[in-house]
Amino acid sequence: MYAAITGWGHYAPEKVLTNADLEQIVETSDEWIQSRTGIKRRHIAAPGQATADMATRAGLLALEEAGLTAKDIDLIVVATTTPDLLLPSTAALVQSKLDAPQAGAFDMNAACCGFMYALSAVSAMVRGGGVRRVLLCGAETISSYLNWEDRNTCVLFGDAAGAVIVEASDQPRGLQSYKLGAIPNTAEMLWVKAGATLRPMNQERLDNKEQLLQMNGAEVFKHAVRSMVDGSLNVLGQVGKTPADVDLMIPHQANLRIIEATAKRLEVPMEQVFVNIHEYGNTSAATIPVAISEAARAGRLHDGDTVLFAAFGGGLTWAAGVLTWGK
Ligand SMILES: CC(C)(COP(=O)(O)OP(=O)(O)OC[C@H]1O[C@@H](n2cnc3c(N)ncnc32)[C@H](O)[C@@H]1OP(=O)(O)O)[C@@H](O)C(=O)NCCC(=O)NCCS
Repeated sequence: MYAAITGWGHYAPEKVLTNADLEQIVETSDEWIQSRTGIKRRHIAAPGQATADMATRAGLLALEEAGLTAKDIDLIVVATTTPDLLLPSTAALVQSKLDAPQAGAFDMNAACCGFMYALSAVSAMVRGGGVRRVLLCGAETISSYLNWEDRNTCVLFGDAAGAVIVEASDQPRGLQSYKLGAIPNTAEMLWVKAGATLRPMNQERLDNKEQLLQMNGAEVFKHAVRSMVDGSLNVLGQVGKTPADVDLMIPHQANLRIIEATAKRLEVPMEQVFVNIHEYGNTSAATIPVAISEAARAGRLHDGDTVLFAAFGGGLTWAAGVLTWGK
């Protein structure tokens, strides 16, 4: 039994924030942002629009592509680090919005690696026979955690959702190998310090903006390239392949320079690397499913193609996978 991706969809909020708009908010420039990150604009959720809303929109498109309705789904998983609520899960809210009463629902939080962690888990569940059809979303409203006075972070992120249907198949399609990792003692490199059980919110923490995302960009950068390269070689090796066998690499979209450095070390030509960071910025767990959806719609994925995924993010976590494309 295999677990093929049979549907895909993505959604980004209508509101676009360009680099020129950011020049009005913090001391920055279009030139700095583009040359350091490759980002030209990002989409920002409307007031009151949260992660479940975006995940639902992407999910509906994925269901349509797969020729299914919400009633056909056994399980809904949302990979997110920006849930609508601490309780219940965002997936439970998506289940209600989609009207999928027979589907189980849970969230997966591995920060920017959430989608890859969830794809690995869900594919194993489908291959094990416990579920047949899963709606897997990667969705984030990172804008709600951004400090709009901190130019080191606010220019980098955006909001979006991507979704795939993972379905049981007797054809050798879907995830063939995966490797999941986490680097000890690196939590402080990328975190939201307060607002949950360790540091409940109080006025002092609010005044210090500890409810907002903080990052040591240079340190994250160093770990990112190394872990994506090592992870990629590991998952390719597991299935007896090398970077030369990769038809399309879909990396986490955090910074164009990280993507280029990773591709260079792997010797995967940039023409075979999917990049959309200029349009969305870093949308955390949404980057890979949005990229899958865009790549499929653009005709860049063909039946039987070897697709390499690599991601890294808060934790610090990292993840990689090799997938054979096709319904
Ligand atoms: C954040 C990042 C883009 C910074 O790029 P960089 O090339 O390391 O930047 P540099 O260290 O050369 O420059 C930093 C300088 O630019 C300044 N700077 C930071 N953000 C800026 C901005 N938006 N506009 C203008 N200047 C900025 C800093 O204040 C610093 O100035 P200083 O040297 O006077 O203190 C880069 O480190 C990065 O992408 N890291 C990974 C972050 C990431 O991927 N996080 C998500 C993980 S999922």
